[in-house]
Amino acid sequence: MSKENQRTKQSYEAMFSGVIGQEYEMLKLICPLATEMSRLVGQAVKEYSGTKKTSLTVVELGGGTGITTLSILLANQDLSVMSVDNEPTMQVQAKQSLNDWVEEGRLSFSADDALTALKAIKSNSVDLVASAYTLHNFQHEYRKQVHQEIYRVLKKGGQFINGDRYALDDISKHTKMIQQEVANYFKVLTKLDKLDVLEHWIIHLFNDESENHVMRESVALNELKEIGFSALQLTNRMEVNAVLMAIKDK
Ligand SMILES: C[S@@+](CC[C@H](N)C(=O)[O-])C[C@H]1O[C@@H](n2cnc3c(N)ncnc32)[C@H](O)[C@@H]1O
Repeated sequence: MSKENQRTKQSYEAMFSGVIGQEYEMLKLICPLATEMSRLVGQAVKEYSGTKKTSLTVVELGGGTGITTLSILLANQDLSVMSVDNEPTMQVQAKQSLNDWVEEGRLSFSADDALTALKAIKSNSVDLVASAYTLHNFQHEYRKQVHQEIYRVLKKGGQFINGDRYALDDISKHTKMIQQEVANYFKVLTKLDKLDVLEHWIIHLFNDESENHVMRESVALNELKEIGFSALQLTNRMEVNAVLMAIKDK
């Protein structure tokens, strides 16, 4: 990494630690690639918005405590975000941390689930739908409907950006990576004596990896293609994580 990139990354980290606080530090420790996905989503939003002259509307799915939201907000001054999350304990933290942006009029929240929130949005009205670490939690049929709704609400030329767990098509390789992930949870969390968090992550991982949830790379890409998305790219693969980008060009 160049010195300039290193400096940019350091000031990004400082900003996040300051605004999001302990929550960010903890996630970075347990699952550094999850926070990296948020950073990359912000970067993709920045690249997209750099090509546009008008202010942009962004719908964020699964805002959680606000890590991805902040990354999106920092990407460009001229964009506004509606952040959707149906888990009040998570959203309340984002509301507190990101109040400055709410007051500026650049951030609003929806407490609906992703599908309900999308269904309430007018067709062809949104520039970007962005998300991190959320869609892998959905069951297949629900996720398919969310993908369809994302396509419907995007304007022509709009983009879907998702930094998430995209399971490898090579199942043996994927399993090895999950085993490494589990080993890492044990290493980090036993050292911190956080056995309750360890239990929570392992239980959650069973959910992520279950047959009705797992978001297999080729299945997700084919589904989006069938819906009508084009220019599909899966970039920045890091273990089981990657950034998906897709355009609605009709
Ligand atoms: C792992 S967190 C990711 C949060 C944030 N994007 C990040 O990367 O730090 C996933 C978030 O998605 C939310 N979520 C899960 N299912 C959802 C749904 N159906 N609709 C809206 N939000 C949902 C959860 O409440 C949680 O806050």
